[in-house]
Amino acid sequence: MPGLLSTSTAPPPRSSLVMVPSGPACWGKTFPRSIHPAPTTHPAITRNTTNFPALVRPGCSLVATEAPPIWDCRLRVADWQAAPPTESIADPGWPFESRTAVPSLPVTVSRGRRSPDRYNARRRAEGSAHAYIPQGNVNSAWNYRAHQPRLRGTADMSRLGIGMIGGGAISNAHLAAVAASDKAELVCVADLNASTAEEKAEKFGAKSFATDYRELLAREDVDAVIIGIPAGLHAEAALAAFQTGKHVLVEKPMARTLAECDAMIGAAEQAGKVLQVAMVRRFDADWGKVRELVQAGKVGRPCLWRRMAQGSAPQPPHGAWYSDASLSDGPLAESGAHDFDFVRYTFGDVRAVTATNWQMGRVGSVLDTGIVTLDFESGDRMLCVWSWGLPPKCGGGTLSGMDVLGPDGALQQSRHRDDGRYECVVNGPDGAQEVFDFDNPRAGDYWFSGQFDNFVESVHGRQTPRATGLDGRKAQEIALAAFESSRTGRRVELPL
Ligand SMILES: NC(=O)c1ccc[n+]([C@@H]2O[C@H](COP(=O)([O-])OP(=O)(O)OC[C@H]3O[C@@H](n4cnc5c(N)ncnc54)[C@H](O)[C@@H]3O)[C@@H](O)[C@H]2O)c1
Repeated sequence: MPGLLSTSTAPPPRSSLVMVPSGPACWGKTFPRSIHPAPTTHPAITRNTTNFPALVRPGCSLVATEAPPIWDCRLRVADWQAAPPTESIADPGWPFESRTAVPSLPVTVSRGRRSPDRYNARRRAEGSAHAYIPQGNVNSAWNYRAHQPRLRGTADMSRLGIGMIGGGAISNAHLAAVAASDKAELVCVADLNASTAEEKAEKFGAKSFATDYRELLAREDVDAVIIGIPAGLHAEAALAAFQTGKHVLVEKPMARTLAECDAMIGAAEQAGKVLQVAMVRRFDADWGKVRELVQAGKVGRPCLWRRMAQGSAPQPPHGAWYSDASLSDGPLAESGAHDFDFVRYTFGDVRAVTATNWQMGRVGSVLDTGIVTLDFESGDRMLCVWSWGLPPKCGGGTLSGMDVLGPDGALQQSRHRDDGRYECVVNGPDGAQEVFDFDNPRAGDYWFSGQFDNFVESVHGRQTPRATGLDGRKAQEIALAAFESSRTGRRVELPL
């Protein structure tokens, strides 16, 4: 079966042609998210996110042919010479009839954080429709279910039943990805707090909610769970999920101890179920581009990946547990998990860790600031500084983000350009500069959609998880080695 991102020029099966919107008939129409992964250089399609459909512009027509369970969508680009005349994009279960009405005005897309309705209303008053794409605002009050162009009435039995354990901040991103997927259906949300569980269930269209996740796990219509509760509780919930035969996508850090990680990996193997760790950065084209350029030797090897990040600790009432040392290991484990995982994904395994870790801020009991250096087997190195020690709403320092330095040059973190594309710049010898621009079709959807697709496909055995239990374990091992190094004042060799 062709993958979501695959393209082909094979002719569509004529006998099953079901709809041919073309020319002006489809201009400005919206189509479900899942058809948007057109080739990245395609100017006729405005890229979009999980939450908004693709927009078809003048010069482009779209033909769909039905070949259940795959919908084959053909984009015809009449006025762009460089493009191949047709491209086809596989889209399982695309419900054509569910297209939502859109303004008949010329449509462009921008990214931002304003209220969609207010923003679009203002743009319409200005004489053009300007579609808003929520950009990573996981706390948005946007009702995803109501705005998803999905056919709710036509239940597809092949859809994976999803249970969400934990209805806190991160659940918004996961549940938006579930809501946008045609391959899954949200069945139940469980949270200790009944009103949280009920609110999330309502907002994202779950059939039910629960205050005890065991109730969720007891449901036969739940095939897989997403675990988004504090890290110290991940192992217990995952083990219970495997015992009831569910697949698991668990948030990072995978668990607080390596023993818990091992238990989760063992339980998944024993149950024959998927265990995926939500290392969502592996699905971001932005970080992916940096990885690609580094691996292609653009700055030379071995190189030094520098990462600096800071902020204030999550403030009560939201996420007070993040600052409580009995429940959290602080930023090096909670946030550093993404960094440690991503550099491992790029360079391979870590050989040794050196760190200092202390409390700089005045909130809670965690060691909120850390400096870590990693030595990789490859000879590459990482310097990572993470702090939650700033006061609330402090603007932060000037050194934030990441870059990669090597014997042949320096790579700056990619930036979003005015034309909607992204670019990475590599400064080379003698003032030379190379610019690598690229599209980021997943920008704005928090990368969670790509991750969720990968999870669902892994459950069906068509892919493998991009971040496995072992990857989750290795990221946590680095954080634990950093704590040990800080405690002992020594460089810590891995494996622990
Ligand atoms: N991938 C990312 O970028 C990212 C971002 C933020 C958080 N996270 C991770 O997601 C997890 C949750 O973080 P959050 O920010 O959503 O926290 P949060 O405090 O906002 O939400 C946690 C929720 O879990 C609920 N809960 C706690 N114990 C429970 C239990 N036993 N059963 C059911 N519900 C329970 C709480 O009531 C709360 O609603 C953490 O592991 C965190 O590190 C990942």
